[in-house]
Amino acid sequence: INKIILDTDPGIDDAMAILFAEAHSAIELKAITTVYGNATIENGTNNALFLKKKYNFKADVAQGASQPLVRDPVGATVVVHGETGFGDVHAPQITDLKADPRPAFQYIIDAVKAEPGEITLVAVGPLTNLALALESAPEIAGLVKEVVVMGGAFGMNGHRGNVTPFAEANIHDDPHAADIVFTASWPVVVIGLDVTEESFFSKDYLDLLRDDAGEVGQFIWDISRYYLDFYSKKVGLEGCHVHDPSAIAYVIDPTLFTLREGPIRVVTDGPAEGLTIQKFDGRKHLHDDWESKRAQQVGVAVRDEALLKLYRDTI
Ligand code: BDR
Ligand code: CA
Repeated sequence: INKIILDTDPGIDDAMAILFAEAHSAIELKAITTVYGNATIENGTNNALFLKKKYNFKADVAQGASQPLVRDPVGATVVVHGETGFGDVHAPQITDLKADPRPAFQYIIDAVKAEPGEITLVAVGPLTNLALALESAPEIAGLVKEVVVMGGAFGMNGHRGNVTPFAEANIHDDPHAADIVFTASWPVVVIGLDVTEESFFSKDYLDLLRDDAGEVGQFIWDISRYYLDFYSKKVGLEGCHVHDPSAIAYVIDPTLFTLREGPIRVVTDGPAEGLTIQKFDGRKHLHDDWESKRAQQVGVAVRDEALLKLYRDTI
């Protein structure tokens, strides 16, 4: 069983990922740690507490960062995820459940130290909380089992960016944090647009979930109306890419993905701010500080039909 802490900015596809993690028997969802991104930190945390209450999760909720480390905040992605993060579904203010008193980064440090070698961190929002945890307790890099990140784009099949021509949203929101997380000595697997945009929840697929997957299927359908409207109007597709659930799919069944090894860096400013790059050839260069960075894994292909089946069977 994989014990995970899911660091997330809930978020429509974040909710799809949270419900997936909670439903699958190969995962023990220990905690949901929140970060700004798709919604404000207050709305994102309330959405997490709303899900915990609605579905009776054992997982703790801990609230994290409200803004990036260095860059100016980009602001909540209202056009994609709606005013409060779950599209047209506005969670009531949750008052009878409370978030853990610790900030997310401290929660992560304490949880990792309590179970050395056991915890997988799955991050599907901006990487601010993970970077703060590393800065405050660098030794956790040696104590985490694995870090699985949904973010970035590495140019496979032309995938480069979604919020700018060269940046994916989670990395663009906090490129400095992403560079810290990718160059740390812990093992990182990055599931970026190269693979998440190869899997597609069509309108029909979501209709079938609504019909066959009970209340959870109905909830996923309800929150995804706003998302599908965005995709239809702005992206020109009738359905949505499978971003955050792909990171959970990797934890459940890594064989769904083909990985490529090499150190990863992030461009932190200028016109390509948020661009993710991986050095995967063995070439020697005169000026090369890449050699000192840990080789990480980047997803370059996915068996998308099998992933869609896994999601559907689980939900
Ligand atoms: C990522 O950005 C967010 O909008 C989604 O939740 C996902 O984590 C995709 O670029
Ligand atoms: Ca997300």
